Amino acid sequence: MQTFTIRNNLSVTIREAEEKDAEGILSFVRLIFASTDQVLTTPEEFTITLEQERTWVRSYSETPTSLILVAEADSKIIGLLDFACKTKKKMSHTGEFGVSVHPDYQCNGIGRRLIETLLQWASLKAEIEKVFLNVYETNPRAIALYSKLGFTEECKQVRAIKQPKGDYADMIQMSRFLR
Ligand SMILES: CC(C)(COP(=O)(O)OP(=O)(O)OC[C@H]1O[C@@H](n2cnc3c(N)ncnc32)[C@H](O)[C@@H]1OP(=O)(O)O)[C@@H](O)C(=O)NCCC(=O)NCCS
Repeated sequence: MQTFTIRNNLSVTIREAEEKDAEGILSFVRLIFASTDQVLTTPEEFTITLEQERTWVRSYSETPTSLILVAEADSKIIGLLDFACKTKKKMSHTGEFGVSVHPDYQCNGIGRRLIETLLQWASLKAEIEKVFLNVYETNPRAIALYSKLGFTEECKQVRAIKQPKGDYADMIQMSRFLR
């Protein structure tokens, strides 16, 4: 767990998610899905119930190579990162993460802290060798942040994304080796 201050002296805590966070996480992800087109899930596709969300949080906390981090301010979840290793044995040395920060709190270093915390945690797990993510080429802020944290582009799925208005985006896979 770590706490730091951002603008207006607001205290932000980064910690591992617990089952009791399920409701806060649900509200947060609904807001993210409704506020950006740079994520895969559309709001209408997101039908997860509170019970399913609790199960999801529990399954991550019970898996040694999975992690959910929340960023919290004023008892509200304002950032989320989830990481899981591939389940197939031959790919289980690799894991993917997704990260998002509440629109009102972006560009305050919260995304950076969440990813740095993941990398510190993962570097202590000998079985995790490679961390990767997928990002739309239309997301310069996210790509810049990942690059600054040592992730490099390794492949691109051309026109993998078709936005509701009909425009396409390539999906870029970026990765960083830990060992
Ligand atoms: C991408 C996201 C997680 C980043 O989190 P954040 O808390 O806003 O990011 P940070 O403040 O830690 O860092 C942003 C960095 O990008 C830089 N940046 C901001 N806008 C930029 C732009 N248009 N082009 C290049 N760099 C940019 C900032 O200067 C900052 O760099 P610094 O760490 O050297 O100061 C957040 O913006 C978000 O949730 N976006 C919507 C959902 C999303 O896109 N998720 C990622 C899907 S792959």
